[in-house]
Order: sequence, then C-alpha cells, then structure tokens
Amino acid sequence: MIGRLNHIAIAVPDLAKGIAIYRDLLGAGISAPQALPEHGVTVVFVELPNTKIELLEPLGANSPIAKFLEKAPEGGIHHVCYEVDDLAAARERLVAGGARVLGDGTPRTGAHGKPVLFLHPKDFAGTLVELEEI
Ligand code: CO
Repeated sequence: MIGRLNHIAIAVPDLAKGIAIYRDLLGAGISAPQALPEHGVTVVFVELPNTKIELLEPLGANSPIAKFLEKAPEGGIHHVCYEVDDLAAARERLVAGGARVLGDGTPRTGAHGKPVLFLHPKDFAGTLVELEEI
C-alpha cells in the first residue's frame, strides 16, 4: 500500500540554524520558507537526490511542534511521510486494521498542496506517520 518515502520531518527551534546546517555544512539545496498557519509551522524542504527533509519551525502560539520541542529542545525527527495512491482507501484499510488516524480523519492539505493524513505514533512503532496522496 505505501509507496515511496516522500520526506522525513525534523522539528527545529530555529529555522535559520536548521537551514545553515543543511545548506552550509551539508551542501544541500533548500526551498524557500513557507508559512503554514493552519498547521502551526513554517517549513522548508531540503532537496536530496532520493527524498526530502522537511524542517519544521513552530509558528504561532498553539503550534503542535512547540510541545515536541519542549521535550527535545535541540530539535529532532518529528515524522516520516509515505506516499499513497489513494488516501481514502489507505484510511479505510488502516482503520479496519485497528490503527488510529489523528484528528477527525478528514484529509488536510499538506505542505505540497496535496491531501495528507497523520497516523497515531502508538500504532506505528512510536513514530508519527504522515500519508500523502500522490
Ligand atoms: Co510532513
């Protein structure tokens, strides 16, 4: 069912510092910052030959990243994103298998303008999973 790894997301307390690590130290190409108020984050994508790294900085008072960074002040891996062909079919299969979809289960628009769903870390080996319809 799942396809390619679309990206790994890393939460950072300071986006400029995160960009400096990947652009200056590691020599990667990086997209322009994108503010996503509905997700409570500002995001950039680090372009790698086979996948992307999504750097997430908290945006606004109620950012879902803020709590994560309280526990991991230096930043850390926040979620992995897998591609699926059909998000509705994927959700049906996962729910039937006993997995929990976060929120009300309605897909939201992700950072690429495509529909996404998040899955409960407790059902996925302790890892927050994002599914993106490609
Ligand atoms: Co993501």
